[in-house]
Amino acid sequence: MGSLIAPFLCGVAVIATPPADEAPERADVEPTAEASTWNRDIAEIVKVRCLGCHRIGGAAPFPLQDHASVANRATFIGDVVESGRMPPWLPLNHGFVGDRRLTALERRALTTWIAAGAPIGAGEPIRLDADPGGAETSKNVLALQMTEAGEIPEESGPAWHRGELDQHGVMLPLENESMHRVRAIRHVTSAPQAIRVASLVFDDTGTGRYLDERDPRVGFLMAADAGVRPSGVDGILLGGGDGLRWPDGFHTEVAPNSDLVAELHYRPTGRIERLQERFELELVPQDVESRPVRWLPVGLFRVAIPAGTRSLLSTPETVVPVDVDLVGLSVRALEICVGVEVVAIDADGVETVLLEIDEWDHHQRETYVLPACRSLARGTRILARFKVDNTASNPANPDSPPVDVRRGRRTGVLLVMLHVAAVEGLSDDALSSFGGDWVRRRGQ
Ligand code: HEC
Repeated sequence: MGSLIAPFLCGVAVIATPPADEAPERADVEPTAEASTWNRDIAEIVKVRCLGCHRIGGAAPFPLQDHASVANRATFIGDVVESGRMPPWLPLNHGFVGDRRLTALERRALTTWIAAGAPIGAGEPIRLDADPGGAETSKNVLALQMTEAGEIPEESGPAWHRGELDQHGVMLPLENESMHRVRAIRHVTSAPQAIRVASLVFDDTGTGRYLDERDPRVGFLMAADAGVRPSGVDGILLGGGDGLRWPDGFHTEVAPNSDLVAELHYRPTGRIERLQERFELELVPQDVESRPVRWLPVGLFRVAIPAGTRSLLSTPETVVPVDVDLVGLSVRALEICVGVEVVAIDADGVETVLLEIDEWDHHQRETYVLPACRSLARGTRILARFKVDNTASNPANPDSPPVDVRRGRRTGVLLVMLHVAAVEGLSDDALSSFGGDWVRRRGQ
């Protein structure tokens, strides 16, 4: 048997990093010899790349809707754009859907414009209208809204379960009599500036209900794993992002009588925020064929990272049980994690990078979706390597001075969930119990 991995089925190098370190150029910004102006080029770049979050009522702390709001922060903006901190996007390798990185041309246009003193150009300065998005409602959308509002505290409180700070779980019952096929999920939050990340799991075990009932508040303080299903296994959504959408022809299968359990990761804003989340599930129309997305876990269940140390932790290998198409990856890690790499190793021992992040940010987690053209053959081995930095020089270290980090979690502490679909319909049965069985075996 030749290479077990069919590398470039889409005609482009889907996962491998292209030789240049830049995102592919976008055709709509013409290179020009003239200096950029707000009216001619910059307003459009800001509109496309920043406005989704930097608008009134958006996820970012300030809007960027007119010339002054951008020009007055020009140096700051130059810095975060130069360093790649904005727009938020963690993977280094290319090929994921909705890559937010600026193209080389966009970045150059912005930085030369800033260096030139942020000129407006001819005419009245353009004002950008914020389109909150999601206005088009399809008839196949099922909306779930928390019936009762809860609260996000004004600042971080002590958590009895160490390491679960600034995290709140909520449970939304679907009360579905039959199986649902969900192809996209959108999160509409009541507290856009506080809620950073929502890690989702569809739960038919009653775990979310149990946690919710036990806690007197609306929602609960606890990691929202449901049985053997780690939170995030049905998607991790970044606040201000476009939500999660599987490629055409794929769906998340939601068993009858399920609840949507969301682990919300927030950043306190200094005032009490009302918490009343809404999730919109887009269903696959009945007459459309679609394959269920299952999950393969790769991870570590227990870690011990002494204070003051840095290390590279490798997970055991997960062997892909049947031929699959990889449609996405979700990661959960610790705040002291600084990097993660996920690789596939074929029968010949050739390693291919599936995901590479060298500046992990706990506040910027999300599911990375592939355009469904990446096949992993049965027998492919998957491995993840996590770089952790438990020293005082890691600015993300929540403890100062650093403390020994000893953590165990039945569903994985450092975990990558590969979202995959069986290529052959018959193989789906074998795949559907794989993730849960793996967790059950390892977690004992
Ligand atoms: C997906 C949402 C999103 C997009 C898109 C986005 N930002 Fe941000 N931005 C944020 C959030 C959230 C913060 C607050 C970060 C924090 O407090 O850690 C932020 C903070 C900033 C800051 C302040 C940095 C700091 O250290 O506090 C600047 C400057 C900025 N963004 C510029 C931009 C620019 C310029 C663009 C477009 C090229 C952009 N952002 C696109 C969400 C976004």
